Amino acid sequence: MSTLPGRQPLPRRGDARPRRVSSISTKTGQFAYFDAQLGRPDWSGRRVLDFGGNVGTFLEEAAGRVQPSLYWCVDVSRTAIEEGRRRRPQAHWIFYDRYNPQFHPGGVPGLDPPALTPRFDYVLAYSVFTHTPDHETVELVRALRSLLADGGVLAFTFIAPNWAPRGEGQESNVRWRLNSRSLGSTSEPRPVPAHLDAAVEHAQEAPWCAVVDHTLLFDARAPIGPCGRYDVLWSPDHARSLFPTAEIRPPVAPERQHCCLLGPTD
Ligand SMILES: C[S@@+](CC[C@H](N)C(=O)[O-])C[C@H]1O[C@@H](n2cnc3c(N)ncnc32)[C@H](O)[C@@H]1O
Repeated sequence: MSTLPGRQPLPRRGDARPRRVSSISTKTGQFAYFDAQLGRPDWSGRRVLDFGGNVGTFLEEAAGRVQPSLYWCVDVSRTAIEEGRRRRPQAHWIFYDRYNPQFHPGGVPGLDPPALTPRFDYVLAYSVFTHTPDHETVELVRALRSLLADGGVLAFTFIAPNWAPRGEGQESNVRWRLNSRSLGSTSEPRPVPAHLDAAVEHAQEAPWCAVVDHTLLFDARAPIGPCGRYDVLWSPDHARSLFPTAEIRPPVAPERQHCCLLGPTD
């Protein structure tokens, strides 16, 4: 049995204050990712809800394969929604005023999702439930599945702590999350210090863990106050325990995130 506490502090570097990450996502590759995970569907005429879609990079990268008038984006970042609307006014941009510890700390805890009347062929969420506690994820997934048309698919990503890309010297996802942005380093990612190896190894085997600013958290039920970073990681078995009927697919290169696929109902 592990002797590690439920919360494992990590060393702070540089400025010790939690850094707030920009609300505008610069991530790319979302269209290619879901296109591959969904088996390269014919997107034409399909209605898509991009939940937590930020500025709509998915739509941009679809490059005409998804019609803007058939694309809806719901996000708790008002800034991202406004920017998405500025870029693609023909699409549907909906601000969701719900609390998220990292992305919308001023929001309303537990606010119901916006009422949307269309039914969607695809509801997608890239790296959204990697930033929400499990009870919220379960609740939101239930609500999103109810928005699916017959034959529709909900596809969302999660990050498995012990997964690593093939190839020598590739770091596990939990090290990647820790190295990349979570230790308060101001520029280049730096390796996690060796004395934290036990905590990292524990995280790699954990069903659930989270990087909360400078802390590695193992208790999924711990309440999370406003913070600069809240990254949730799940083992595939944990994903299956939350969503027993889901089809779970491994990451497609060059991405590191698994995909969970669900239909309208069980
Ligand atoms: C890591 S970003 C990913 C953004 C986008 N999917 C992409 O791939 O660029 C997470 C996004 O989820 C949004 N988000 C977090 N909690 C949310 C919630 N409960 N409902 C809707 N969006 C949420 C954030 O505002 C942010 O835009």
